[in-house]
Amino acid sequence: MENAHPWISATQVCPSILAADFGAFRSQVSELLAVGARTFHVDVMDGHFVPVITFGTGVVAALADVVHDAGGALAVHMMVERPERFIDDYARAGADSLTVHVEATSHLHHHLRRIREAGMAPGVTLNPGTPVSLLSEVAEEADNLLCMSVNPGWGGQSFIAASLRRLAEMRALARPGAGVEIDGGVGPATIADCHRAGANRLTAGSAIFSAPDPAAAYLDLVERVNAATVP
Ligand code: DX5
Ligand code: ZN
Repeated sequence: MENAHPWISATQVCPSILAADFGAFRSQVSELLAVGARTFHVDVMDGHFVPVITFGTGVVAALADVVHDAGGALAVHMMVERPERFIDDYARAGADSLTVHVEATSHLHHHLRRIREAGMAPGVTLNPGTPVSLLSEVAEEADNLLCMSVNPGWGGQSFIAASLRRLAEMRALARPGAGVEIDGGVGPATIADCHRAGANRLTAGSAIFSAPDPAAAYLDLVERVNAATVP
């Protein structure tokens, strides 16, 4: 299958705006675009699949022009029950990928196809307590396999060490050209190991936005990934 979303297989640090200042999304995103960030991770939480409610299509729409004008992408992580209800809404708002949880829906295969037909890169993810093998039948439909390295719902948690083994399993399941993403507790101490274990998309929230200088923190993470890249 040809990859209609080549950005997804690039090695990149993806800032997660969950940890940003909710009153300053556009300026914080612009600051990171200016130093080279291109993919932004957008955590949608519904108060059911996870206890917290964050934001939805409005935030995606508010960021779409500034991110797309710079050639960037908005990668939406749906921590939402039955995310299939919102596929068209996120496509219209300007999302470039939609990653859904195996625990939140049935008919996953069908929904991943619908996400692709809506023009977005389909992604699939699972909680740290869910066996990676649940991805085996749908991995070929996905452009993004996301490895949760904390339990979804909050930023700023500690990285779960077993995620490195799970990452390697996901990389083995991913079809050629697909991305493998790590999300949760990714920072200076963990990012290089995540990249070596198979993640090309390294998502970080608090390690970037809770730092005194988010642009400098982003660049530090990029440097650590580059140093960990096997030539
Ligand atoms: C957690 C979210 C993550 C979160 C990661 O439920 O899915 O994307 O932003 O935050 P950090 O990087 O602070 O662990
Ligand atoms: Zn996330």
